[in-house]
Amino acid sequence: MSDLEQVQGPSGGTFSVRQPGEPGALPVGFPMARDPELLTDPARRVRVTRRPGRRFPFPVPNGWFAVVESAELPVGGVLALYYFARDLVLFRDESGGAHLFDAHCPHLGAHLAVGGRVEGGCLRCPFHGWLFEGDDGRCVEIPYGGGERIPAKARTRSYPVVERNGLVWAWHHARDEAPFYEVPVVPELDDPEWLPPVLREFEVAVACEDMAENNVDYAHFQYVHGSDAIPETEFVVDGTYKRTVSGEGAFVREGFGLGLGLLRIAGFTTFLSSTTPIDEEHVHVRWLFTAPRANGPDGAEQAAEMLCGGVSQDIAIWENKVYRSQPVLTRSERPILEQRRWARQFYCDEEQADVPGDPRP
Ligand code: FES
Ligand SMILES: [Fe+2]
Repeated sequence: MSDLEQVQGPSGGTFSVRQPGEPGALPVGFPMARDPELLTDPARRVRVTRRPGRRFPFPVPNGWFAVVESAELPVGGVLALYYFARDLVLFRDESGGAHLFDAHCPHLGAHLAVGGRVEGGCLRCPFHGWLFEGDDGRCVEIPYGGGERIPAKARTRSYPVVERNGLVWAWHHARDEAPFYEVPVVPELDDPEWLPPVLREFEVAVACEDMAENNVDYAHFQYVHGSDAIPETEFVVDGTYKRTVSGEGAFVREGFGLGLGLLRIAGFTTFLSSTTPIDEEHVHVRWLFTAPRANGPDGAEQAAEMLCGGVSQDIAIWENKVYRSQPVLTRSERPILEQRRWARQFYCDEEQADVPGDPRP
């Protein structure tokens, strides 16, 4: 602290002014600094917004969200996770299927990942040995009491799961309804002509929807990133699916629900972007990059460096902004409102997504 300038504050105390570039210093914009290390180093993040309450009005959206890399879950493996503002348990059964449950046992509340054991296609609770079926979370055995009837309510919530593109995806729906779109297969991630995928992951204090809105906020490209937005030549919205083509076909961005995006930059990279809600105000981002082998052995790393550098410019803005439910916009910013209308389909109640973000005038 000794090298920081001490300044008299308005209430008589002193506070420190950090110099630009020092950890904790306020970033200087136009454009914002690129600092890819900030993605994984919380000490480099700047958080100054302190107003109490929520910054974003959205509930956790409905959709498919990546919860772990497939390789992190061996047969018989049990993991404790926290996503969708819920404690969860993920396990891989003896025939290789992955299952995701609410973590706390419906009996007397043990966390099923803390001592829980995989048996066949089921998970056994460590506390009193109740056995839960992987596919639907139903209790199928209570191993004491002489074969009493199993209560109908002896069931933990089970989430639909698929494995695709090297990731385990879980379907979250606020009312526990069935999936209404699919996780796409990305052929390049499994193509010998393309490099093995490079994964980058990081957390951001922002809502899933606010992060997605960034792609249609064309003006910010110039001010935050120091680059022009590339004009779009095609824009398709079909229910939960979206595609934009820009740069005369060089950039194709597809969206599958909120939080699952695919960007193809011709001859450079194909990159899968997954944004999983940790809760209403935090996300866990996983980006998978690949590149044509013809670009050399570092092609995927280079793409990762470029895009991680880019997002590092957004993070300080996202982590300190609030959501304006009735923003003052210019005519050219209409796509932001269209994006918001599109995003409403991923919430159960429209009002839920439209609560004023800032209750104060
Ligand atoms: S708490 Fe799970 S079996 Fe009793
Ligand atoms: Fe951005």
